[in-house]
Amino acid sequence: MEKVENAMLEMVASLKDARSVELFHQVPKGKRLRAKLILKIAGASEESIRLAAIVELIHAASLLHDDVIDDAFTRRGEASLNALFGNKTAIMLGDILYSKGFSALTFLPQKIAFTISNAVSLLSVGELLDVELADAFNADEERYMDMIYKKTASLIEASAASAAMLAGKNPDIYALYGRNLGLAFQIIDDILDITQSSETLGKPSLNDFKEGKTTLPYLYTYRKLDAKDRSVLLSLFAKPLDETQSAWIKQKMAETQGLEDALSFAKKLGYEALHVISNEEDVGLGAIMREMIERKF
Ligand code: FPP
Ligand code: MG
Repeated sequence: MEKVENAMLEMVASLKDARSVELFHQVPKGKRLRAKLILKIAGASEESIRLAAIVELIHAASLLHDDVIDDAFTRRGEASLNALFGNKTAIMLGDILYSKGFSALTFLPQKIAFTISNAVSLLSVGELLDVELADAFNADEERYMDMIYKKTASLIEASAASAAMLAGKNPDIYALYGRNLGLAFQIIDDILDITQSSETLGKPSLNDFKEGKTTLPYLYTYRKLDAKDRSVLLSLFAKPLDETQSAWIKQKMAETQGLEDALSFAKKLGYEALHVISNEEDVGLGAIMREMIERKF
């Protein structure tokens, strides 16, 4: 993984702009899930390390833009770039990172360049859907799933498929694994927004709902509420919540098993993915999936 970190830094440094490098050092490092996935599937080679670095640069760029869009001042418990340097700088650093990623992509096989760049279009469409879905309470599960597929799963799916292409493995099998890993990842993220304390999250608990995001646990809970409780839930949508209101939401989620059902669905996606790769060489993808589903932050 250190080689991936170095490759990312080299790519940014190749632009020969000291300020870009300086800003890049301030970007909070993530779990590097996509890079780990690529190295597990393709093994560590010069090309796979380059692919992993490109994908992580693009992913970092998307989060820089996302924090501007979400007005988020923290990222993984650290100050976000927009908090430190303002929106303009955060957006431009995002543009620098993802355009560098794209130019580096042209040195990889064309099928891989297409797969990754196409996923970035989906990612952007997904972010737009996320923003527009937040305009009103969304009780449509299909729209939510389509949005999280595009916003989160598409780049993970493309990473896994591209790594398989590099390794001469069947890309369709790994694409499906990546897709389900991505969907489960986002659903777990949405669950943690409800179950974890603000200290663990590095942002206020129940933040999604306050921001107008009707995630799966809300959707499942809403379905099972009677008319009276439904209108209470709707009245709390996209507003600051006091302690009593937060507690009410959490209680209804427990009563209706809305939270549990969302977790079961994420696990089901995980098991489905493990089943699909069960005849493939064991490179540790099961552990990645389990860690992801069991994570607490
Ligand atoms: C995080 O979602 C956001 C994403 C995974 C995708 C964001 C994509 C874009 C902004 C499109 C632009 C793309 C490029 C390459 C510049 P979230 O807000 O639900 O998660 P969070 O809690 O981690 O913020
Ligand atoms: Mg966000």
